Amino acid sequence: MAELTAAGPGPGARPPQPDAPGTPPALDVATVSKDFPILERRVNGHRLVYLDSASSSQKPRAVLEAMDNYYETTHANVHRGVYTIAEEATALFEEARAKVARFIGAAEPGEVVFAKNVTEAINLVSQSWGRRHLGQGDAVLLTHMEHHANIVPCHILAAERGFEVRWLPITDDGYLVLDDLDRLLDGVKLVAVTAISNVLGTANPVARIAAAAHAAGALVLADAAQHVPHLPTRVEDLGCDFLGFTGHKMLGPTGIGCLWARRRLLEEMPPFLGGGEMIRDVRLDGFEPTEVPWKFEAGTSPIAEAVGLGAAVDYLEALGMDAVRAHEIELTGYAMRVLRERHGDAIQIHGPADPHDRGGVISFCYKDIHPHDLSQVLDQSGVCVRASHHCAKPLMRRLGVGATARASVYVYNDESDIDVLSEALAEADALLG
Ligand SMILES: Cc1ncc(COP(=O)(O)O)c(C=O)c1O
Repeated sequence: MAELTAAGPGPGARPPQPDAPGTPPALDVATVSKDFPILERRVNGHRLVYLDSASSSQKPRAVLEAMDNYYETTHANVHRGVYTIAEEATALFEEARAKVARFIGAAEPGEVVFAKNVTEAINLVSQSWGRRHLGQGDAVLLTHMEHHANIVPCHILAAERGFEVRWLPITDDGYLVLDDLDRLLDGVKLVAVTAISNVLGTANPVARIAAAAHAAGALVLADAAQHVPHLPTRVEDLGCDFLGFTGHKMLGPTGIGCLWARRRLLEEMPPFLGGGEMIRDVRLDGFEPTEVPWKFEAGTSPIAEAVGLGAAVDYLEALGMDAVRAHEIELTGYAMRVLRERHGDAIQIHGPADPHDRGGVISFCYKDIHPHDLSQVLDQSGVCVRASHHCAKPLMRRLGVGATARASVYVYNDESDIDVLSEALAEADALLG
């Protein structure tokens, strides 16, 4: 890859950093972690050290109680009944949508579509917008660091519609190569890019890519599964046209994700799934879909999950997303420093060296120990890290590995968790190295 020039962080490339003049208040991790009942657990005789939040985060009591309380006091189907609890359930469900919309800076709640997860949100774009707009002679631009959720829907549609799939390469230190972006954009109708890589941690310059894509007449889909939970997110600042994220990575429950897009775009898109809830009228000879966003929400919605996601948004807002971001920069920097100092050449950490250019994801290889073996040995010390291709097989091939181990941090982790990881790695080395 010697011919590739690093895009480097460069001006405008970095994600929003905590406001320079007023440093955000530090997270009080000791207090925060008390809100997460699961962290009281012991595993294999040790304190649970959960370092797999990039896969799925743990849930604070506020989220668990909001969902319990909903089921205990209010549950009924939404948008259907006219009796009191059905109306209350509908109000809670739509209130959650409004909270999510505010959290990402959407112009109005109607721009937020609830889906099962970010994977479904991306499939919605592909099957609805993509099927209508993409065909032979067109191209879609992806990057080498995409999650399968942002690749496979594109492959499925390309096989049907015959458009070209192009790839934005990466440098050896995990940045997108943007030098050739304008040429690659020629004929492209959609750019699908991860806002933060779930493997490399790289925080990509979505706004810069979106500006170039728009100039070339393309729309931009940002996979923000690792962005929305960890950084202040304003859709206007990112400049994208579609943004997908998933509730279970941001302290919320599984079973709910979101697609954001401007109303104008959503209105011209055909429905994705058909059934109840998404229609205005159904006749023997056809149907008429209802309005945005409900025309994309066929069937009974994930109501309790929306309530839980709303509570997760409340919780994150109370912490302050600037504080969350500052905490993760500091902790990721600490982890990379400590792991390199203690383990030297034995550990290879992938992705950008500067924690300001990445989220709280640290993927690594340790000597030639298989990541699965490593993860199992770490588990004996109560340490949870993911060992996998992380649903990013093209990236694994680019890195020349089959899998990596990945430690990822969130609001309930602190330096002591990294110290336990480092010590457990030394023990794994003694056993397997
Ligand atoms: C960047 C990225 N995109 C997409 C996904 C898929 O998330 P979900 O399984 O919730 O749809 C993940 C989760 O691992 C991810 O990290």
